[in-house]
Amino acid sequence: MGNKVTTAVFPVAGLGTRFLPATKSVPKEIMTLVDRPLIQYAIDEARAAGITEFIFVTSRGKGALEDYFDLAPNLEEELKRKGKFDMLKVLEDTNMDSGAIAYVRQHKALGLGHAVWCARRLIGDQPFAVILPDDVIAAEKPCLQQMVEAYDETGGNMVAAMEVAPEKTSSYGILDVVNEEGNLLDVKGMVEKPKAEDSPSNLAVIGRYILSPSVLKNLDEMKKGAGGEIQLTDAIAAEIENKRKVYGYRFSGQRFDCGSKSGFLQATVAYGLARPELREDLAGYLRDIAPSL
Ligand code: UTP
Repeated sequence: MGNKVTTAVFPVAGLGTRFLPATKSVPKEIMTLVDRPLIQYAIDEARAAGITEFIFVTSRGKGALEDYFDLAPNLEEELKRKGKFDMLKVLEDTNMDSGAIAYVRQHKALGLGHAVWCARRLIGDQPFAVILPDDVIAAEKPCLQQMVEAYDETGGNMVAAMEVAPEKTSSYGILDVVNEEGNLLDVKGMVEKPKAEDSPSNLAVIGRYILSPSVLKNLDEMKKGAGGEIQLTDAIAAEIENKRKVYGYRFSGQRFDCGSKSGFLQATVAYGLARPELREDLAGYLRDIAPSL
């Protein structure tokens, strides 16, 4: 039912203030979880879901991101000369096809909705995915792939959904749900960052979306929402008002909020323990310090 989704937008134009001073010169998306930058996890997830066109919405000071996806011929030569073929393979796995990535700038950080709108000409008139690289999701089947498979059946618009503690609703877009069938939630409303007492549920939207191009039209109006920002949530909620479908998808997997320091540290431990070559050492250290915590 849903058209094939081959384009993904990666909004990476935020200021990353929670990671200052590091983000003074290092884009948040280049910060490393074990040995891979956050953006690499996002790209790998997109590729697994069948994405072939990658659009980055960037801003001033994000040059390191563009360089990361460029070839590194000198480095590759040097690794070959030294016979470090395993490292060469690691590098090659990060290579992208020429022309697969397009960059567009958001000149002012006016909000996530505005960032996605900046990519409208590159997206064109087709459904597209949005991935926020600071939401990292550990899952057997990558989250976006789960969603693309569900979207094949439903069409419309789809957002990743997860239950959060009631006191945390004010940090998320929250779903108002009429019906639930398996992993699919039939959504009748969405509110950005409601207080616990005003929240329609504790089902939060997290950073994976499959959207129809009409959401970009809704963003044309440039209405400011919560926090004075142009919110993607509001543009998706407008779809419901226009009698178009919005689904929440309860994904399987564990999400880490790598936009926060605590979430980033937890992800570092989880992804470290998942690496066979690091597991024993790291688990030993955690066991040693656990009694004193
Ligand atoms: P955040 O709310 O995490 O904001 O944005 P931020 O600027 O990245 O980080 P803090 O809060 O200052 O520490 C969520 C996602 O939306 C993108 C960010 O890059 C991030 O991927 N974003 C946000 C934009 O691209 N443009 C914006 O105007 C706002």
